[in-house]
Amino acid sequence: MIQNQWYAVLPSKKVPKGRLVAVRRLNLDLVLFRDEKGELGCVVDQCPHRGVALSHGKLKGNCVQCPFHGLEFDGKGQCRLVPAIGRATKTDLGRYNVKSCAVREANGIVYLWNGEASTATDGPLPWFADFVDDSYSMSEIEDPWNTHYSRAIENQLDVVHLPFVHHNTIGRGNRTLVHGPKVVFEDGRIVTSANNEVDVGQEIRPEAECTINSTYLMFRFPNVWMNHISDKIKVAVYFAPVDDENTILYLRFYGKATGLRPLNAFMAWTGKYANRVIERQDKRVVVTQKPKASEYRSGEKLVPGDRPIVVYRKLRDEKKGAKA
Ligand code: FES
Ligand SMILES: [Fe+2]
Repeated sequence: MIQNQWYAVLPSKKVPKGRLVAVRRLNLDLVLFRDEKGELGCVVDQCPHRGVALSHGKLKGNCVQCPFHGLEFDGKGQCRLVPAIGRATKTDLGRYNVKSCAVREANGIVYLWNGEASTATDGPLPWFADFVDDSYSMSEIEDPWNTHYSRAIENQLDVVHLPFVHHNTIGRGNRTLVHGPKVVFEDGRIVTSANNEVDVGQEIRPEAECTINSTYLMFRFPNVWMNHISDKIKVAVYFAPVDDENTILYLRFYGKATGLRPLNAFMAWTGKYANRVIERQDKRVVVTQKPKASEYRSGEKLVPGDRPIVVYRKLRDEKKGAKA
């Protein structure tokens, strides 16, 4: 995973007020909860006293209370009470602090900072705020994939697989010949679109002769993607990294195809299931990829049409701080 990035990891609504929510994300077992004002906190799900899962404890005011000996920690991991020492005894509770994870939320998504909490940034969180707003109806679905999130992302940038994996859905028409595709990296987004054709004996065209069409794909680091199908219909996915071999895809369907909000909501609801069919076609093959995580420098024999994947890998490699 890339250090010092905000990862989209969970829908906000999965952490209601008054609950301790245990999740595994970024290779860590974590517990999320809200304080009395509704502000999110996130700490490692392991009590520093004697190792019990804090998520089995309970919420007391702004703190999680460990079920074993009652130590209390706030959402930033600071120990607020050690009952066995008592409230009156003068002692520094700092040594009992539990490791925390910086957390923010926007767009109905919880984001975790993959790095030291003290280095977390407060700028805009990765999303496509310029492309979707409240005028769209949105419906969301989740699906766990047994793969590293890099493979799941690459699959969503892959224009070569369409006529094979999706031969009876979005890849209908046997357009196996892959021109380009054109790939641009601007405003922090990788943008590409399919220029595929039926192979009737023509040569493939280079990237320079290809275009970004009205339907295009966008990716923003570290883990959010959108298919801009039209001005009125979009599909977005955030790929929540569970650990090095598991990812949960949160797939959102956005629509405002009609002027009627209830009808848009119904279309978003059905659209989400149509997209699940497509997503399951992808999942079937992607979970078999070896190794589980992709790398920029690998032994894979790529084809020219894999260019969006190469761009993704190269940028990711740079962000990971790998030497050229
Ligand atoms: S193990 Fe948590 S308070 Fe003792
Ligand atoms: Fe696909």
